[in-house]
Order: sequence, then C-alpha cells, then structure tokens
Amino acid sequence: MKVIVADTYEEGAKKAADVIEKLVREKPDCTLGLATGSSPVGMYKELARRCKEEGLDFSKVHSVNLDEYVGLEPTHDQSYRYFMDDNLFNHINIDKANTYVAKGTGDIDKNIAEFNEILDKTDIDLQVLGVGPDGHLGFNEPGATLYEKAHKEVLEESTIDANTRFFASRDDVPRYAVTMGMGSIMKAKTLLMIINGNKKEAARKLLMEDKIDPMCPATFLRLHRDAIVVIEKSLADEIGYKG
Ligand code: GLP
Repeated sequence: MKVIVADTYEEGAKKAADVIEKLVREKPDCTLGLATGSSPVGMYKELARRCKEEGLDFSKVHSVNLDEYVGLEPTHDQSYRYFMDDNLFNHINIDKANTYVAKGTGDIDKNIAEFNEILDKTDIDLQVLGVGPDGHLGFNEPGATLYEKAHKEVLEESTIDANTRFFASRDDVPRYAVTMGMGSIMKAKTLLMIINGNKKEAARKLLMEDKIDPMCPATFLRLHRDAIVVIEKSLADEIGYKG
C-alpha cells in the first residue's frame, strides 16, 4: 500500500487529483470507479478546475459508481446520481451517457442484475474510495460475511447516523442501498482511498494493524497490489501513523 500523508484536506484533494490526472492523460479512454461522500468532493473540485483551466480531457472517460440509495429517484438531491452530476459530471467534459450510477428505484433485483452485468463487462482502471466511520466500503457494511458482487445492503445504524447530516431528519435517511460488492472493488487495477474526518478506528485498523477484518471492510485494501491511501496528517498523527 502506498500511503500519502497530506497536511490539509485541500492538499490531499490535489494529491488524489494528481493520481487521476496521470491516468486520464496516459489512458484517455480509461474507466474510473467513482465514490460519493465528503471525502472526494475536494478532489472532484480540483479535477473540474484542471478540466476547465488546464485542458484535462474527460471526453473519452467512462465511469461507474460504487453505490446508490434504495428509494431515492436520481433527481432527489441526496441520490448519488444527483451528487455525481452536481459535484463532478456537470463541471467536466465527460459524456454523461458514459457514466453509470445504479438505479435505486423501481425493480431493485433487476437494477442489481443490470449493475452486475455492467461490472462483468467493465475493467475499472481506478476505483475511488471513501470509508464509512464503521469501515464500510461503498455500502459494504461490516459483517461476518462480505459479498463479491453487487447486491442490496441493510445500512448499519452508525451509517444512518453518519448520513443523517445530509437529510432533513434521521427518518428520511434510506435504510437500504445497492452497492458494488467487495470483489468488484478489489478487481479494479488501482484503488485510491481518501480518508479524513471521523474515521479514526477504520484508519487505525487499516494502517496500524496486520489483520484483514470483515468487521472493517477497509482493511481489504491490504490485499490489493496497487492501493493508494491519502490521509490527512491530523488523522495520521491521531492514530500514531509515522509512515
Ligand atoms: C457513504 C458512501 C461511502 C462513503 C461514505 C463516507 O456511506 N456510501 O461510499 O465512503 O459515505 O462518506 P464521507 O466521505 O462523507 O465521510
């Protein structure tokens, strides 16, 4: 695992954007696996700036997203489709027809089958990852069993708590989500995880322990050949990570 310790959130966002820029310049028709959440927002902003001001070209890039809430229409301002349009796709020259976010409404089993079909025929060059406070990846919640393929997850109470800040009330937070499985995530050629904020336990288990722990899905990064972790210095210091 390559670990990049960044002094600030903004510096981390730039370092993470550097990794994506290098890939997009070397392979203009690459496929990016994308993530939502506050962790990658700064990186998306930086990529949008580089697209606008420095000609970083996304016109041939394809993307597939990690997950989507069950029950939210794509037009709902907390759906992950809306998030991606609002935070990235509307600000870069990507062809939206080449972007895929699983559907969270309608026939969920059919949506999951479609999601798996897309994943089966897609080689993700780089998968962006945040991490939940409980160590979840996408919406792969901790548990004795993790799943290889895209599936429906029941969200942990701690995940509902963490995501309540985005909704009018806790009751409005969806209880289910569709997510890429751990296998689809691990098959990406490169993993790029951005950790900051209240992820102390997950960061400690990932960087300071030698266990691959299904109770902390983030630890599976240790099994990947090309995983990059961008962590804020304040969090690295808190867990005693020295590099
Ligand atoms: C949600 C998403 C995850 C994301 C996590 C952390 O639960 N499904 O993919 O990593 O939030 O979000 P944040 O970066 O806002 O802390």
